Formats: sequence, C-alpha cells, structure tokens
Amino acid sequence: MPSIKVALVGVGNCASALVQGIQYYKSLENPNKCVGLRNLFLGGFHPKDIQIVAAFDIDSRKVGKDLSEAIFAPPNNAPKMVDVPSLGIFVHKGAVLDGVGEYTKHVVSVSDSPESDVTEVLKESGAEIVLNLLPSGAVKASEWYANQSLKAGCAFVNVTPTFVASNSSWARLFEEAELPLVGDDLIDQVGATTLHKTLLQLLSKHGVRITETYQLDVGGGTESLDTLERTRELKRTVKTETVKATLPYEAEVVAGSTDYVDFLQNRRDSFFWIKGLYFCGAPMQIDMRLSTVDAPNAGSVLLDVIRAVKIALNRKLKGAILPICAYAFKHPPQLLSLEIAEKMFEEFITPRF
Ligand SMILES: NC(=O)c1ccc[n+]([C@@H]2O[C@H](COP(=O)([O-])OP(=O)(O)OC[C@H]3O[C@@H](n4cnc5c(N)ncnc54)[C@H](O)[C@@H]3O)[C@@H](O)[C@H]2O)c1
Repeated sequence: MPSIKVALVGVGNCASALVQGIQYYKSLENPNKCVGLRNLFLGGFHPKDIQIVAAFDIDSRKVGKDLSEAIFAPPNNAPKMVDVPSLGIFVHKGAVLDGVGEYTKHVVSVSDSPESDVTEVLKESGAEIVLNLLPSGAVKASEWYANQSLKAGCAFVNVTPTFVASNSSWARLFEEAELPLVGDDLIDQVGATTLHKTLLQLLSKHGVRITETYQLDVGGGTESLDTLERTRELKRTVKTETVKATLPYEAEVVAGSTDYVDFLQNRRDSFFWIKGLYFCGAPMQIDMRLSTVDAPNAGSVLLDVIRAVKIALNRKLKGAILPICAYAFKHPPQLLSLEIAEKMFEEFITPRF
C-alpha cells in the first residue's frame, strides 16, 4: 500500500495528537484489539500508511526542530502518550499573517528565522494533502495556506472554523484545480456537540418537548485562549446552528465555547443543560458535565479524514467533497442529519470495483 503524504500547517496540540496517534497505532493489526479508533482500516488504509512529509509553524521553539521534538515544545500542552522517534522532518517557518492574536502573543514566541517558500516545500516534499491546523482566529493565514495548497497541487483539509470548504468561492477554486477540499471545523470523537445533538434527538424521538438547552465549555489549550479573543461568536453561531437543526421544532438553544482556564492544561470541561416536558407536561431536566482532553479528541476523526481524502484523490474527485465534510466537520457546505452524514460516508469509503 503506497503511503499517504501529508503536510501539517501548525504544529500545535492537534498536530501533536495526530503524530503520536500514527506512532501509537502503527503496529496494531487486529481491529478487535484496537482501543480508541473508530476505524483501524479505512478504504484499505491503515494509520501506518500516513506519512507526514512536511510541517510549518512560526514559533521559535518549533521552527527548525525535528517534528518529533516540536510536537512536545511549549506552549503545546497535549499529554505525551507515546515516544515518537526522530522523523527527519524539520519544521519550516511559514508566513505569520494573523496567526497570533492579542491574547496568544504572550504565549507564542514568533521565530525570527526566514520564511520558507511554502509552495516549493510542499512540491518538493511530495505532499498530496495539506492539513490546516492553525488557530481558529487565523482566518487570513488559513486562506493563505489554502492558496499555497492550490499552487502546489495538494488537497486541503480545513480543521479550523474559518469558512473554506463551506465557502462556494473556495470550493470552485479547488474544483477548477481538480483537487479535493474538505472542512470546516472538525467534529471531535467524544464531541460535546455530537453528544448534545444525540441526546436532544433521542429525547425528541421519545416524545419529549425540549424547551431550553445549552452546552458551554471551558478549556486550557492555546486554542481556547485564541477562541476567547477571536472566534467565540463564530463558534457559538456554528455550534448553535448545528444543534438547532436536530430539533424538529423551535426551542431556546445556546451552544458554544465560553472561557479559558489555564490550569486545565489541554483538558476541556463541557457543561450541558437540557430542560423539557414529557407525558402530560411532566417536567424533566439533565444537568451534566463531560471532561475530555482536547487534542486526542481530534485524532481518530483526523485519521479517518486523511484516509478518506486519499480515496477522493484516487477517484480524482474535485471541489468540496460532501460525504467527508458532513461526516467529520461541524460546518460542512450542506448541513445533514447525523444518520444521513454517516450513511453517506459509509457508502463513500466502500470500495468500488
Ligand atoms: N479537538 C481538537 O483539538 C479540535 C477539534 C476541532 C477543531 N480544531 C481546530 O484545530 C485547530 C488547531 O487546534 P490546536 O489545539 O492544535 O491549536 P494550537 O493553538 O495548539 O496550535 C496552532 C499552531 O499553529 C501555529 N501557528 C500560528 N500561526 C501560524 C502560521 N501563520 N503559520 C504556521 N503556523 C502557525 C502555532 O504556533 C501553533 O503551533 C484550531 O483551529 C481548532 O479550532 C481542533
């Protein structure tokens, strides 16, 4: 099986979990013994088929370092789950643009190394897929890397909430370039949004009339700090829209991120409140907290997305690829129900002869 060549834009917590995950699952062959992955094999691909061939960042503690070292450099605070041997991939300095916000400028130390020619590095590395793992407020930088990806002839995966795959102009550009594009804003494996939607759906199916509900969370990664300053409103809109869409009637719904709590490190606490009426108007309520570690929560879904995008490349698909976007992202070009999105993805990854 040929490898899937991936370039990472942003060597933060998410990148750390992904690189560690590839190492962790490399030697596992038996799906029954595999803990923590939704798909050990997907479309015939195993996580060990994924090869990181290039990486970009701007932090002086990461630029110029081997990727195996850069993923554990501060301000990353994702837990170390496995030893990663030297990978021979050195982190390049990318363009800073709006990569650092007012709040994160105190925790990110911008490198004074010269910027690499990103398109050239991508071409020379043989990358076929670019994974955009920039901070959520880095809108200009995300668009800039999408453009570099186009110029280098790579598929683009937008993990961030910037509207790229869900923006028809970008989708057209990738279609014209005959390249796949997926996004926006990855869904977590143990995701508060998915859990919230599933609970509401289940209750509604059982005849409960939800009257009010919220889901809010706090986290301690750099990303939570950036969100607090730059994307709190955007995240609130995206999450609230997707949660509202699961209810077949109007209700008071709020879903979003609330705050940064540094001592949580990479942990995230998600709070859920659901209030409704059931038989003869009897009241019910759920008051619940989910505690997770943020970066590993992206790992399993990212491994699925990378392998699904490779399938899209092999089939020469172009533009926004809806079955992948709807399955793995909170803001796809078209919002579909969980069941339809799952079914579409299953059909998509089924081999065609
Ligand atoms: N569970 C998850 O972690 C999860 C789920 C859904 C979406 N996301 C999204 O993934 C993205 C990454 O999350 P994270 O927790 O890894 O963030 P992070 O802040 O830990 O990492 C971002 C990295 O990008 C680097 N960077 C900033 N500007 C840059 C530039 N111009 N060029 C190159 N590198 C630059 C930073 O130095 C940092 O290393 C965010 O947009 C987040 O919303 C993450």
